[in-house]
Amino acid sequence: MAPRIDSLDRRRLMQGLAMSAAFFTVPGAFAQQLLPTAAQVEGPFYPNHLPLDTDNDLIVINDGITPAVGAITLLSGRVMDLSGQPVRNALVEIWQVDNSGAYLHTGSMNRDKRDANFQGFGRFLTGSSGEYLFRTIKPVPYPGRTPHIHVAVKIKGRDKFVTQCYIKGDPGNEKDQILAAMQDAKARDALIVPFAPIPSSKIGELAARFDIILGFTPAA
Ligand SMILES: [Fe+2]
Repeated sequence: MAPRIDSLDRRRLMQGLAMSAAFFTVPGAFAQQLLPTAAQVEGPFYPNHLPLDTDNDLIVINDGITPAVGAITLLSGRVMDLSGQPVRNALVEIWQVDNSGAYLHTGSMNRDKRDANFQGFGRFLTGSSGEYLFRTIKPVPYPGRTPHIHVAVKIKGRDKFVTQCYIKGDPGNEKDQILAAMQDAKARDALIVPFAPIPSSKIGELAARFDIILGFTPAA
């Protein structure tokens, strides 16, 4: 005769099973969750004609010898998921105005003053580290907006993620309506990063670090 399990023990046993099932079926349930990078509007100036060169060096177009005008900035960061794991094969795109406030777009303001040596747009495909890197210029303001760099992340099978990166300490940030519309101060502050001089640079280059945390955890 099988030993009898009374109803209380049986209930404990079932609860125990339910607990262990929860441990095994919810990967990352107890991993530290990062704050996802806030999405922002794409705006109307994503290039309507892509440049001939779409690499990650926006300062020089193809084999050009004249560099773009502006404060040269190395913009880098890591694309991660909510648990901090790097995301590979993420196509990071940036676009921004040139030093005269002109986008690479036929409808841009200041089109006639556009810097023909500034690429205005670039792409970088992440590897296993999730890292991306661009050489670009420190963004400048244009009427109605504080300086910003538009950033998109494209991953196969997912909706495009779009946001903007801002300069810490820029006086225009306080008056910017897109930034002001963000209710969550932590999420807003995460979009605003230092553009700091690189100590070893003899030509006064700047560095900015903008990590992008996507609001998902990958399938187990
Ligand atoms: Fe913009």
